Amino acid sequence: MADLRINLAGISSPNPFWLASAPPTNSGYQVQRAFEAGWGGAVWKTLGDPILNVSSRFAAISFGGKKVAGFNNIELITDRPLDVNLREIYETKKKFPNHAIVASLMVEPKQEKWHEIVKRVEDVGVDGLELNFGCPHGMAERGMGSASGQVPELVERQTYWVKEVAKTPVIVKLTPNITDITATAEAAVNGGADAISLINTINSLIGVDLDTWNTIPHVAGKGAHGGYCGPAVKPIALNMVAECARSPHINVPISGIGGISNWRDAVEFLLMGATGVQVCTAAMHHGFRIVEDMIEGLNNYLDSKGIAAVNEIIGKSVPKYSDWGNLDLNYQIVARINTDVCINCNKCHIACEDTAHQCIDRRPDASGKSYLKVREEDCVGCNLCSIVCPVEGAIDMIEVKSELPPMTWNERQKALNMTAVCKADLPNY
Ligand SMILES: Cc1cc2nc3c(=O)[nH]c(=O)nc-3n(C[C@H](O)[C@H](O)[C@H](O)COP(=O)(O)O)c2cc1C
Repeated sequence: MADLRINLAGISSPNPFWLASAPPTNSGYQVQRAFEAGWGGAVWKTLGDPILNVSSRFAAISFGGKKVAGFNNIELITDRPLDVNLREIYETKKKFPNHAIVASLMVEPKQEKWHEIVKRVEDVGVDGLELNFGCPHGMAERGMGSASGQVPELVERQTYWVKEVAKTPVIVKLTPNITDITATAEAAVNGGADAISLINTINSLIGVDLDTWNTIPHVAGKGAHGGYCGPAVKPIALNMVAECARSPHINVPISGIGGISNWRDAVEFLLMGATGVQVCTAAMHHGFRIVEDMIEGLNNYLDSKGIAAVNEIIGKSVPKYSDWGNLDLNYQIVARINTDVCINCNKCHIACEDTAHQCIDRRPDASGKSYLKVREEDCVGCNLCSIVCPVEGAIDMIEVKSELPPMTWNERQKALNMTAVCKADLPNY
């Protein structure tokens, strides 16, 4: 059994699996049941001045037979009084002293408001604070959540105010509704953040009802944009985590969030630089017990690789993630079709012929039937045929050994004595 314990900026937990601040962490009853099920930590549903919620609040995309491929909500922060939440946090921490309880906070961008709430939640024994600069709806219209999180100066200033009084580690939760996540991540670091967490939800509208013309969801016939999460957002979240992890200016631990549904997703976030992960939608879809599979899967994975502790894999893929200009232009792969596995459905041929490089031919075989073959000299290795192929193992992407030494775009430009235009050269960048 590998050692699954993590320590995120001083917050320790028995495993890297935390519940994200959301409906699953709304009350002591829920968080205690989650800890009993095996979750290592919980970020409490965001505390602040209690709000009024609307009905209905959620909607989801089902795609290709998969329920809840993407999830959307227009829910706000906690609608329960602060003192009720504080009492339940205190009781939960007493029962589970070794589990991580982090208080998510959102107040108006005023120094005295932050000071007051930080002192109150720290008094009940939380292990850390998470500043919610991410919620994209409702609270943002009141100057909080992503309205703050989209302005680096506001992120920095409010983080600084919290750090003026905080005795526990401060995690800043970032909004993905921004052009460059590293700008706000850096602002959090400059404000003194001990860690960052990302991502919160992405601005979204799930759909429109074709009969009523109402938005989905709607509240008495009116809709508003919501926050998107669940499996569909994982690639966006993973990239944002990776961009922060590889930035030389962001040297604080990362709590990875966004579309994590199983141990494999979690391992990807850890490899890309997250010290731990947070989960919301998958728990809402399948219940708290999914953590059992996550723990078992992570344990088996580490054992199979001969790795003694989960900490050893954190960030291992970060050096492999770079700018496009550092990729080897002379590396070449080509598609190869395994005719014994291919079912001749022709999808690869159509995809290649209509939308790629026209290098898959249909050829006659000896029995008078036909088979598909790639003209490897014309294949650019784009992967499209293997992506659309419905049969596992029917198309392999094979590396072709190049005669040429590795050469990146950046090296090529240098060799040609040409300076590439880069981001920094763009006007007003
Ligand atoms: C219904 C709902 C309510 C949420 N409420 C909060 C909240 O109060 N505070 C917060 O920081 N994030 C909130 N989130 C965002 C989640 O914590 C998380 O960042 C997001 O859902 C991405 O993770 P996931 O893909 O695992 O769901 C909420 C998400 C959902 C679906």
